[in-house]
Amino acid sequence: PAVDAMVAALPKVSLHCHLIGTVAPATVVELAAKHGVPLDRGAHDLYDHGSYEDLGEFLRVLDVVGSVIRDVDDFHRVTYESLVAGGADHNVLYREIQLSPPGHPEVPYPRILEGVVAGLRDARTDSGIDARLVVGINRERSGADAVELVEQVIEHRIDEVVGIGLDYAEVNGPPGRFVEAYRLAGRAGLGRTAHSESGPPAHVLTLLDELGCSRVDHGYHVVDDPEITARCVAERIPFTCTPVSSDIGRYSGSGDGTHARIRQMVDAGLLVTIDSDDPPMFGTDPTHDYRVLAHALGYRRDQLAAFTANAVEACWLDATSKADLL
Ligand code: HPA
Ligand code: ZN
Repeated sequence: PAVDAMVAALPKVSLHCHLIGTVAPATVVELAAKHGVPLDRGAHDLYDHGSYEDLGEFLRVLDVVGSVIRDVDDFHRVTYESLVAGGADHNVLYREIQLSPPGHPEVPYPRILEGVVAGLRDARTDSGIDARLVVGINRERSGADAVELVEQVIEHRIDEVVGIGLDYAEVNGPPGRFVEAYRLAGRAGLGRTAHSESGPPAHVLTLLDELGCSRVDHGYHVVDDPEITARCVAERIPFTCTPVSSDIGRYSGSGDGTHARIRQMVDAGLLVTIDSDDPPMFGTDPTHDYRVLAHALGYRRDQLAAFTANAVEACWLDATSKADLL
């Protein structure tokens, strides 16, 4: 249909995607074979998203994927594929991709960067897509672990790393645990974002006031509190929403109505962007997430293009580079 063609052609800017979550199943199987890691499933059912009972089950599969990405070549390959097939082929012009070093415990952080940066460079040469990195803290670990990771980020500072994020299960890692790590990142001039997907609106306040976040990943529950919503509207706080991944099962705790929540957020005047989170793991891609909203909420080109414009405003490029994006 015409809507699908329009959605595919629309320029996109992607701010909420996890590198480990973008790996095609065939690549996971190949890397597992390369490193002699046994998998209990094949490529066709590795990402059976109907079987994600909850976020914990999904994260367990994510850990398996992380464990097969082991050397510089692997990081190069998954980054390249994620940006070209998973991004540029969907008219994604620019992506800030979240990299989760704790997901690769055997690989030193500088080696991860080496492979990923090579992937960024080659993807840009071959497809034109530009990208930066957001280093993800695993919130199920301690505050001290988070500080250590941020110290590494600062020690090995490169231009490609523009900020930090906070992922894994919110119920096992309240944002207040990470105040020190976020302060350290803030003093180093790093951008700050964090997931709040199933958590209460008060978590959004913690993100803004204690962690110094300039944007929020998901944040669906903000609309449960009119006062916090009004503040976020006034401050133009971006919310990176992921319609398909958040709508699957009981995964986010808001799965019964993610699309409706996104509509509420848009209608409230919040700065919403649209993304895919962990595309192949949830059977989606950048085009599909836009398409789903077009069909579920009746959004037309002007609203979908507004999501892209919001992402340009929300991204961590400097003003000149932003102006050059679209
Ligand atoms: N949710 C929380 N943490 C994550 C996800 C997710 O979808 N993907 C990678 N880390
Ligand atoms: Zn996410």
